[in-house]
Amino acid sequence: MNQRLVDKAIVVIGAGTGIGAATVERLCSEGARVCVADVNRDAAEAVAERMRQAGHDAFAQSIDIADEIAVNSAFASAVARLGRLDGVHINAADLRAIFADSDALDVDLAVFDRTIAVNLRGHLLCTRVALPHILSAGGGSIVYTSSGACDSGEPERPSYAASKSGLNALMRHVASRWGKDGVTANCVAPGFVMTSEMIAGGQVPPEWVEVCLKGVRSTRLGKAEDIAAMVAHLLSEDGRWINGQVFHVNGGALLH
Ligand SMILES: NC(=O)c1ccc[n+]([C@@H]2O[C@H](COP(=O)([O-])OP(=O)(O)OC[C@H]3O[C@@H](n4cnc5c(N)ncnc54)[C@H](O)[C@@H]3O)[C@@H](O)[C@H]2O)c1
Repeated sequence: MNQRLVDKAIVVIGAGTGIGAATVERLCSEGARVCVADVNRDAAEAVAERMRQAGHDAFAQSIDIADEIAVNSAFASAVARLGRLDGVHINAADLRAIFADSDALDVDLAVFDRTIAVNLRGHLLCTRVALPHILSAGGGSIVYTSSGACDSGEPERPSYAASKSGLNALMRHVASRWGKDGVTANCVAPGFVMTSEMIAGGQVPPEWVEVCLKGVRSTRLGKAEDIAAMVAHLLSEDGRWINGQVFHVNGGALLH
């Protein structure tokens, strides 16, 4: 494995499962010191413990990105422990709300509000608290997890798509406002990724897997590790001249 992140201090939010957990593993294996932050404290602790058992430097931090006070205190503890902040991967989303995210006529406004509160407002809260630390470290990188849904124009999930489009806009703002101060901001927009939790939970019907596989110009569906690899690239020095972009990592499901 490359060692592009040796000693970089990185916080991954939404890191207890799925793409975030795979990203922690990738960042650690490239030499980073990682704070594994999630609303699900037990899941975050399990990931951090697995990393420590493998000889890496990682610790868990509970955080609820829908709660400003919790975000501020979680970052204060995380940065105190890391000593500095070089990068953040803001990856959390409330994916329970997505099942009730029907269409614009029907969707319960509580579902819309909750989706925006976590997937967009929560990312703004994390950005606000991370940026001063990144600036005082002389610059660094923020990577947000968006989604192909921001561009695909689906007949369902309007709240989710709106939250992810808003996130792309937030990212472009951050890149524009702080690029000259050495900050890069980018989004990774995954296509359908079967996480190990989805596979273990049998949540995905085989027919849906077939539909998704037909839709990709690739031999297989996505894995969490495919997204983690792009995040690691953007957080490393190899990504220093990449700024303000949305990267679709989707096996060719959407072409641009
Ligand atoms: N899996 C896919 O097919 C796919 C496709 C496109 C985009 N995405 C995006 O990738 C990201 C990760 O998704 P995943 O599939 O790994 O799902 P996941 O549910 O495994 O990961 C999401 C994590 O965010 C955490 N989280 C939820 N609400 C939170 C909050 N309020 N504060 C802090 N943490 C919170 C969860 O506990 C969980 O660990 C999400 O942003 C999702 O929208 C996933």
